[in-house]
Amino acid sequence: MANVVVVGSQWGDEGKGKIVDWLSEQADVVVRFQGGHNAGHTLVIDGVSYKLSLLPSGVVRGKLSVIGNGVVIDPHALVAEMGRLAEQGVSVSPQTLKIADNATLILSLHRELDALRESAAAGTKIGTTKRGIGPAYEDKVGRRAIRVMDLANLQTLPAKIDRMLAHHNALRRGLGEPEIEASAIYDELASVADKVLPFMDTVWSLLDQRRRAGDRILFEGAQGALLDIDHGTYPFVTSSNTVAGQAATGSGLGPGAVSYVLGITKAYTTRVGEGPFPSEQDNEVGDFLGTRGHEFGTVTGRKRRCGWFDSVLVRQTVSTSGINGIALTKLDVLDGLDEIRICVAYELDGKRIEHLPASQGEQARVKPIYETLPGWKESTKGARSWAELPAQAVKYVRYVEELIGAPVTMLSTSPERDDTILVQNPFQD
Ligand code: IMP
Repeated sequence: MANVVVVGSQWGDEGKGKIVDWLSEQADVVVRFQGGHNAGHTLVIDGVSYKLSLLPSGVVRGKLSVIGNGVVIDPHALVAEMGRLAEQGVSVSPQTLKIADNATLILSLHRELDALRESAAAGTKIGTTKRGIGPAYEDKVGRRAIRVMDLANLQTLPAKIDRMLAHHNALRRGLGEPEIEASAIYDELASVADKVLPFMDTVWSLLDQRRRAGDRILFEGAQGALLDIDHGTYPFVTSSNTVAGQAATGSGLGPGAVSYVLGITKAYTTRVGEGPFPSEQDNEVGDFLGTRGHEFGTVTGRKRRCGWFDSVLVRQTVSTSGINGIALTKLDVLDGLDEIRICVAYELDGKRIEHLPASQGEQARVKPIYETLPGWKESTKGARSWAELPAQAVKYVRYVEELIGAPVTMLSTSPERDDTILVQNPFQD
């Protein structure tokens, strides 16, 4: 049985929501395996728009939805998100949502620390979502995190909180911030325990059973592979592994559980926050793409930086995530341009290179080498077959495939679910 991992192949915001929703309708189980409520997925179903951050997209369709151990969970944000969905008539019950007992919690002190660092001296700014994601993962790796299961044993919390605060209060003293009282953290956790615990489960075991029973599992990645803590544009990255391999580690299944990796890929490039962006167009082209593509963050509302399609980066992601095929999104945003550029390689210190180097200094120095293709005047919006696309648009898509070394398996031509050209269904690989 095919289990599909969906990852963003650029810096996030590739339009995963629609594709994940389309796939989740065919899945039995939908699993989040990394990140937290820094993600923002918009699903449009029957004209109604649902905005999800932490919850797997499957909740809207009543599918078994799982938050795996690799996710960091702000319990208050979780409860608030469920509340917002309830107002839209979507109820999330302990039968449909399972949360890993060994997942790490994001606390208010993580959120505060994230914001403090971001407002500190220039040069250290990452442009995070200020959701506390990085500090929570630091505590996980530092072996001082509070985890979901700890909410079930409140009497064990004081010792764990002391351990965590020994670290955080030292940091806060250094930053000139007041220390945090252990009782404040205890109260914060105790107040939310009853709301979270009904959803807690031994997720690795549940997923193993479902996999053996032949269920179709959809692993829903958040952010994008270029924000991966190992493979991304470090240090301008998020604090989790966002590449497809994390689907196994972040859910408790072995790597053999994954049979198809779908990379969601935007027909141009965007990025939110700081960091290198070789094909960025800080000019009228970028403004055109941003306006046409409505490039504002779902979570923070920030204006996204925009630029030409960078095939070097996506080719790299095809390798680091083992992408079998891509879903190409937002092609219609390019409609009407006289010429379209594609970055095909970089120049670094006078030499042509075919990949983005790992060094921060070199990443800042690479210059894009472009090829220019003729644009098309006709609209591609809403096309549902190749025949409806202008010849130049088809050429553009074929050239993208050639450059990145992976086929387009789906082409999305508007936010509406039926405005899709399907080449191959990843679940029926
Ligand atoms: P953090 O994940 O909040 O720590 O932010 C680290 C970097 O990842 C920043 O550049 C954010 O803008 C970026 N980022 C985090 N989540 C997303 C997302 O869902 N889409 C796009 N960028 C994101």
